Amino acid sequence: MTTIPLSLPGAAPGAWPLLGHAWQLHSRPLEFLSSLPAHGDLVRIGMGPYPAYVVCHPEAAHRMLTDSRTFDKGGPFFDKARVLFGSSLPMSGWQEHRWQRREMQPAFQPDRLEAYAAVMGEEVDRMTAGWRPGLRLDLTAALTTLTLRIVTRSVLAAEAEDEAVADVQHSLHTVIDGIYQRVMLPLGPLYRLPTPGNRRYRSACKRLHSAIDGIIAERRASPGGKDLVSMLLAAHDDTGEPMSDKDIRDQLVVMSGAGFETTANSLAFAFWLLSQHPEAEKQVHAEVDRTLAGRTATPADLDGLPYTRRVIHEVLRMYPPGWFFTRVTTTDTTLAGHRLPAGTALLYSAYLLHHRPDLFPDPERFEPDRWLTRSGDSLLRGAYVPFGGGNRKCIGDQYALIEMTMALASVCARWSLRPDPGATLRVQVRGTLGPGRLPMNCRERGAAVEE
Ligand code: HEM
Repeated sequence: MTTIPLSLPGAAPGAWPLLGHAWQLHSRPLEFLSSLPAHGDLVRIGMGPYPAYVVCHPEAAHRMLTDSRTFDKGGPFFDKARVLFGSSLPMSGWQEHRWQRREMQPAFQPDRLEAYAAVMGEEVDRMTAGWRPGLRLDLTAALTTLTLRIVTRSVLAAEAEDEAVADVQHSLHTVIDGIYQRVMLPLGPLYRLPTPGNRRYRSACKRLHSAIDGIIAERRASPGGKDLVSMLLAAHDDTGEPMSDKDIRDQLVVMSGAGFETTANSLAFAFWLLSQHPEAEKQVHAEVDRTLAGRTATPADLDGLPYTRRVIHEVLRMYPPGWFFTRVTTTDTTLAGHRLPAGTALLYSAYLLHHRPDLFPDPERFEPDRWLTRSGDSLLRGAYVPFGGGNRKCIGDQYALIEMTMALASVCARWSLRPDPGATLRVQVRGTLGPGRLPMNCRERGAAVEE
């Protein structure tokens, strides 16, 4: 990292009056973020009227992520998301976060993950049961239903009736999109007008809340389970206060929101990338044939799937679903050689860091084997952050890795997915980074289809 005398960071070029860089961030976010390291290790941008500083260097990102008292959750964009997500785990300030994480962590311990993995296997079988050779799928939609059913049945320990899951899926999607829009294009009172878009957003929030309230009421009626909802009902803060129903609802909305689109999008990217890279696909096929011989994966198989895991790591490098997050300084401090007063908004982007060619040579190339030599590499500190870092690191990281590895391996054990001839990938940047609609054709694997 270049050492500069303590100063204020330089600004990114191209700011517009009033909007700052909000338009660039909204209209071509990935190109805009990737252009920033050329302007320094910490670069000032304008989010509407608010200045924010983008962390472009891995050491600075590491320091920011691991000192969560100085670099706390918050900032002007964040406050907009708080309106819907309250003071839930990803939103809470460091003091509240400590006890919340302590109370929720048991839902992600190894014994729980083992139990969730059984649900993951059942749901992959359920998804593929209706597949036939030649069937044309909207793959992203199929995987979104899969991961939402899994998170509903595992973490929330609730029934996953088709109609209710479809409604929650639709509502969550509308809500996540609506929040993204409000954060990226801060148009204030315009979002209160009775436009069709605003009405859709409000009605989706209501439907989502009522679905989650139903789960809480059910669990209140039969307490004592080992699931997250029961844990939240029994949780107490440091002063012995239990959580209110609204707090519990916020936690569950966030957990379902964070726990399905992220993994569905990553899986969809993985299938697309394999369809475009026959050598990598061949290696996955050889590995799953050896380890699974056509059956669905279980957690006991994970050690026998190292190449499949490298594919997942590479997908998360190229297309990290959580592509930008914010922090705010709680005290005067320094970062990357710059002085920052208390209250400074910071932004970090896994996409930006993962696409720096000095950290990941030829960053646009899909190369799972780059992880053969790099796992455990200390240079990755702050450079590879698909799940964030420090004590705010994703609580579902292991859950997600198990789910994605099991689903990718189990599908590849029996199926090869092929895009329409001439189809191209159109990356969509919304609340999460995704591949958008992805029509794919099912081809049953077997000696005859292996080229
Ligand atoms: C590919 C899948 C996933 C990715 C890439 C991902 C990414 C992330 C990232 C980057 C953060 C940190 C945000 C920050 O620094 O501000 C985070 C936090 C979080 N994630 Fe995930 N996530 C994934 C899956 C999941 C799943 C499956 C769940 C739950 C079932 C989940 C629940 C959460 C929660 C509750 C937090 C807040 C943690 C805290 O502040 O203590 N995520 N995730």
